[in-house]
Amino acid sequence: MDKFIIKGGNKLSGEVDISGAKNAALALMPAALLASGEYAFTNMPDLRDIKTMASLLSGLGVVTKRRGHRMAIDTAGVNKYEAPYELVKKMRASIYVLGPLLSRYGYAKVSMPGGCAWGPRPINLHIEGMKKLGAKIELDRGYIIAEAKRLHGTKISFDVSSVGATGNVLMAAVLAKGTTVIENAAIEPEITALVDFLIKMGAKINRVDSRKLEIEGVDELNPADVEMIPDRIEAGTFLIAGALTGGEIKINKCNPDDLISVVEKLKDAGCLINTGDSFIELKSPKRIRNVDVTTEIYPGFPTDMQAQWIALMALADGSAVITDTIYYDRFKHVPELMRLGANIDLHENVAVVRGVKKLTGAKVMSTDLRASASLILAGLVAEGTTEVLRVYHIDRGYEAIEKKLRALGADIRRVSSKEY
Ligand code: EPU
Repeated sequence: MDKFIIKGGNKLSGEVDISGAKNAALALMPAALLASGEYAFTNMPDLRDIKTMASLLSGLGVVTKRRGHRMAIDTAGVNKYEAPYELVKKMRASIYVLGPLLSRYGYAKVSMPGGCAWGPRPINLHIEGMKKLGAKIELDRGYIIAEAKRLHGTKISFDVSSVGATGNVLMAAVLAKGTTVIENAAIEPEITALVDFLIKMGAKINRVDSRKLEIEGVDELNPADVEMIPDRIEAGTFLIAGALTGGEIKINKCNPDDLISVVEKLKDAGCLINTGDSFIELKSPKRIRNVDVTTEIYPGFPTDMQAQWIALMALADGSAVITDTIYYDRFKHVPELMRLGANIDLHENVAVVRGVKKLTGAKVMSTDLRASASLILAGLVAEGTTEVLRVYHIDRGYEAIEKKLRALGADIRRVSSKEY
């Protein structure tokens, strides 16, 4: 198992390219199940989660071939309709095969994901959505078994805006008979990318208003090529790396419009920011100002940036209150950051971070993807050496993070380790 050894204190400077968005790729790859044939996906990030999705699809009869950041996907040979526990337990996004398999093949058997590293993450909205579209759903020995001769259009109004449930219902509805209306649909950029891709495949989707989608089911879709959108969370993480280390960096190949809430908060924290069509430049202040953050659905501040923001506030000039309204229990990084000297009080979903003058290197443990990112960020500024164990979490969602950080001047090494 690999670990990172980080010697803190280097200011980051220079430019970094942002990779394709993990969470867009994880939605668009299963969407390819909706039409038989060949697809070319470009700007595909090289990540463990993408490999897991490729394995899952390969188990269904899909052939994927990667060359650099291009992935060829051939769905002509699909002959199985099951997502096994062994893969779903590794990655919850596996649930995305439910909608496409059901609508195109009339059958799907998908393992229930169970809890994730930081707590329960229900899938009731996915299941209720499929039922409303006319599927017969049975839960059997940890598996969801869904069947339908042909799904039919319906109206679905989500109580909670859910990225995954919106994606799954969309992928099911595009081949259903009749019209489906989705109210309170998620509008995260990854869902917009999915809608655009489905339209390119021949789906009839009308954006009635920002959170209402009307889908007129069609009999058949066609394969299409697509370039993955940039990863807004990777982009935000690098911006915080620049800010935290007192650096001056430019991130390229990103979409600043997807990052408005993060950029605004960084400006409040005292960073000077300049944005162009596809780049963001950041110059950090002498000392970061304390800025409260509450996570919200898009376009609010993303829950996927909450851990990194806590790392930034750990060294701020004053106290900041960070509230996560999406996942109440996503705070496994807090006790680890405290091992580095951060002063944080956690009450349910609210972290009160009292900025300290310095952090000090120690051994810390990754527990999930974004928690790992926050520990690396803290390690970049902690005095002395920080070891971040269990970095396999980071490989799920950040392509070559240590190489990109090193190119910006960080002292970070990956070493294999027996520690667990
Ligand atoms: N929810 C329900 N029932 C459901 C589904 C969701 O109550 O059936 C609730 C959740 O408990 C949560 C809220 O709805 O409180 C939003 O969850 P959502 O369904 O939007 O999350 P997701 O689709 O499971 C995606 C990302 C996550 C990201 C969340 C929120 C992917 C593959 N994952 O998850 O990304 O945190 O949206 O933006 O797109 C990550 O990349 O590190 C990550 C965890």
